[in-house]
Amino acid sequence: LAAAGFEDLDLTVLHQRRSEKWRRYPADVLPAWVAEMDFDLAEPVTTALREAVDRQDCGYASAAGVGEAFAGFAARRHGWQVDPSRVRLLSDVMSGADAMLRLVTGPGDGVVINTPVYPPFFEHIRARGRTVVQVPLRRETQGWALDRTGLEAAFAAGARAYLLCSPHNPTGHVFTAADLVQIASLARKYQVTVISDEIHAPLTLAGREHVPYVTVGPEHGVTLTSATKAFNIAGLKTAVAVAGSATMATVLEAIPESALWAAGLFGVLASEAAWRDGDAWLDELLVQLDTVRGEFGRLVAARLPGAVYLPPRAGYLGWVDVSALDLGPEPAEVFLARGKVAVGRGLDFGPPGDGHVRVTMGTSTAILAEIAARMAASAA
Ligand SMILES: Cc1ncc(COP(=O)(O)O)c(C=O)c1O
Repeated sequence: LAAAGFEDLDLTVLHQRRSEKWRRYPADVLPAWVAEMDFDLAEPVTTALREAVDRQDCGYASAAGVGEAFAGFAARRHGWQVDPSRVRLLSDVMSGADAMLRLVTGPGDGVVINTPVYPPFFEHIRARGRTVVQVPLRRETQGWALDRTGLEAAFAAGARAYLLCSPHNPTGHVFTAADLVQIASLARKYQVTVISDEIHAPLTLAGREHVPYVTVGPEHGVTLTSATKAFNIAGLKTAVAVAGSATMATVLEAIPESALWAAGLFGVLASEAAWRDGDAWLDELLVQLDTVRGEFGRLVAARLPGAVYLPPRAGYLGWVDVSALDLGPEPAEVFLARGKVAVGRGLDFGPPGDGHVRVTMGTSTAILAEIAARMAASAA
């Protein structure tokens, strides 16, 4: 059953939101492209923000409570013991990835990513003058798998860093403990730094467990994460980097002060509240996300025959292979033009995204049904 508080959404109210999700397209387009949810915020988050406004508290952010709050959350949710002094405040995960690439790789160096993958991974690697090395995930009947042989070949060929997306966007794949141990062993052997983007980790759904990378490969590992994806506060601009070892803590120390000042105080306060007091809301959210991932499977089977969708093991992104529907080189364009539904463009995620779209399912089952109906109408 869907969680009640998450089902009561009104599109007229949602369209009043001022974020990019609701502003990019005209009002007759239903937005399901960006990784943002439609639900109301968790009560601890709204309270923290209201109290900040009441205190007239709009100065630069202090990082003072961030390490402790994150460490508490990591221990409760992932059984991960984090030393708060190894936690570094950032404005967002991607600026952390960029800073790490600059610090641990040189011009032209190879950086491994598992395509299809979150489009800014390509942009940041290229913008820094590094080389994208693709090791595609393999699609199997029931889910996705890491190509360990391909990974070793990429490391052996000289890649210096691995930008791991764990859990993985857009497939929702949750890497197994065995995979991560193998990654750590290869990283050790070939002296590769693993930059593990774990922004979707709190959204790991029933049936899988997230293993924080630095718990298996601390020496050359850094985890980048935030409360923003799970608690839907991306616009508040707050994230953390967690060093796996003293060596990596020294690397994090080299991130310029300006990166810390880029975090916003409202984001820090909201993230601390989410990490400290958000468990009950998050548990209910996970029930809702479990419901919508199943519901979307039924909708795809009934309304988009021929499309292939493997429900995510974490998160609320539906990665759908619609190549059998013959919608041309970029199906997202067809869904937008004909169905007035905006979904993610497959090729933005790299060549394996050909014939695919990414659908944001973090909404009510009614809105999800409308998304599917609009897709089906475009494909008819
Ligand atoms: C895997 C992944 N990393 C990073 C981000 C963006 O995070 P931030 O806004 O903190 O840079 C997203 C957003 O969807 C994401 O899916």
